[in-house]
Amino acid sequence: MARERTTYICQQCGASYHRWQGWCHACGGSNTIQEEVRQPAAPGGLKAGAGKSIAFGTLQDEGFDAPRMKTGIEELDRVCGGGLVPASGILVGGDPGIGKSTLLLQAAAKLATAGLDCVYISGEEATAQVGLRARRLGLADAPVRLAAANSLRDILTSLEAGTPPAVVIIDSIQTMFADTLDSAPGTVSQVRTCAQELIRFAKRRGSCVLLVGHVTKDGQIAGPRVLEHMVDTVLYFEGERGHQFRILRAVKNRFGPTDEIGVFEMTDGGLNEVRNPSALFLGDRGKPISGTAVFAGIEGTRPLLVEIQALVGASPLGTPRRTVVGWDSGRLAMVLAVLDARCGLSMAGNDVYLNVAGGLRVVEPAADLAVAAALVSSLFDRPVPSNSVIFGEIGLSGEVRRVAQSDARTKEAAKLGFEQAILPAGSKQTASGLALSEIDRLAELVELFEQDSAGHEAHAVSRRGA
Ligand code: TYD
Ligand code: MG
Repeated sequence: MARERTTYICQQCGASYHRWQGWCHACGGSNTIQEEVRQPAAPGGLKAGAGKSIAFGTLQDEGFDAPRMKTGIEELDRVCGGGLVPASGILVGGDPGIGKSTLLLQAAAKLATAGLDCVYISGEEATAQVGLRARRLGLADAPVRLAAANSLRDILTSLEAGTPPAVVIIDSIQTMFADTLDSAPGTVSQVRTCAQELIRFAKRRGSCVLLVGHVTKDGQIAGPRVLEHMVDTVLYFEGERGHQFRILRAVKNRFGPTDEIGVFEMTDGGLNEVRNPSALFLGDRGKPISGTAVFAGIEGTRPLLVEIQALVGASPLGTPRRTVVGWDSGRLAMVLAVLDARCGLSMAGNDVYLNVAGGLRVVEPAADLAVAAALVSSLFDRPVPSNSVIFGEIGLSGEVRRVAQSDARTKEAAKLGFEQAILPAGSKQTASGLALSEIDRLAELVELFEQDSAGHEAHAVSRRGA
């Protein structure tokens, strides 16, 4: 008979070793390797002819137009691509305490109230605790079926009995335990096996299974990336601990776009949807101050205005400091280099701090121009032309390039009371009511500040002939 084999698996990257060691060669993690017992393969292996033949269909299969189950939480539905899909697996990842359980409990309550059979299985909290939270959220009357359980066998047995529930929530996958394996809950093989079985159940019986997954220190869903391959949709719930709002982001979605975000606000009464996130991220903007620029961005299908803040100051250090929050530091280096080489504005002797207000992370290259404006504004100590939004991508030769959906960006700005837009020349625009300053080259942006600061002595700027 084949022998059970003990292997040592890195809980971070999944690399396996014959013996235990203190650190993983593959990912460099220290103390991440744990002993796991691998089940022996079936004797004889797989032989052709021993299986059933599978039925091949066409690409026109209608099966994918399954009706969506709307949770009624619009921000969640949109991130999922229009609602939950039956017979699918969704992974909801996020730091502990960010609000995953709260979000899913609220979704479960809404679904159950709408008449869908909804099961919530908590492996972390006792039913009394979940009940207490439900009461706090005013959801105690919703007909959600609640249980506290850890054993995968018990869970599957209960789910298989009778008609399968429409929605099953497993909170969290790290606390689930398959008794066919020797390793402890939360290890790679346990997490993988439990997720696999639950997703198989979803596919077979047509339920939508939502798995909560905690995120490790380095931002991956606990342990392995493998989990992300198994499910249809991966959502991350993120937010700064000090801020009250939370962002739900789809990083993988077989049933919808992946660049959507949903914005929520954590309050005493649970998570509230934020329908107009621009207003939230712009905060209270009083009179214009130097070093801030409003970027008209697009997140998924929705325009989103955010404030970009820069602080440029003389540096006492040999190597000046560059600190970036919410944006790519490589991209900042590029904008600084283009300002230097193409506009003659050197910040080589300055510390530069860049921050996207409100804790949002901006990934669009369209933010280049707004970042440049914030930097130049801080350097010259002159505010950005008042009441204006900015967007555009910067190329290495100092040209300002057009970006997608410029129309949606200016419309959102007009809606929020802005009066002017600084944008790439030739951008497609229908009347939005904004005054447009079209620019072709980054140097033209710098000139806007210089006109503004004519006669202003404050800026000690090293300006070489451009
Ligand atoms: P929780 O949903 O338990 O987080 P997770 O499941 O991701 O670990 O949320 C816990 C935090 O949310 C906790 O610190 C308290 C806060 N919270 C509120 O501020 N208001 C509320 O109504 C609820 C239920 C929680
Ligand atoms: Mg929780």
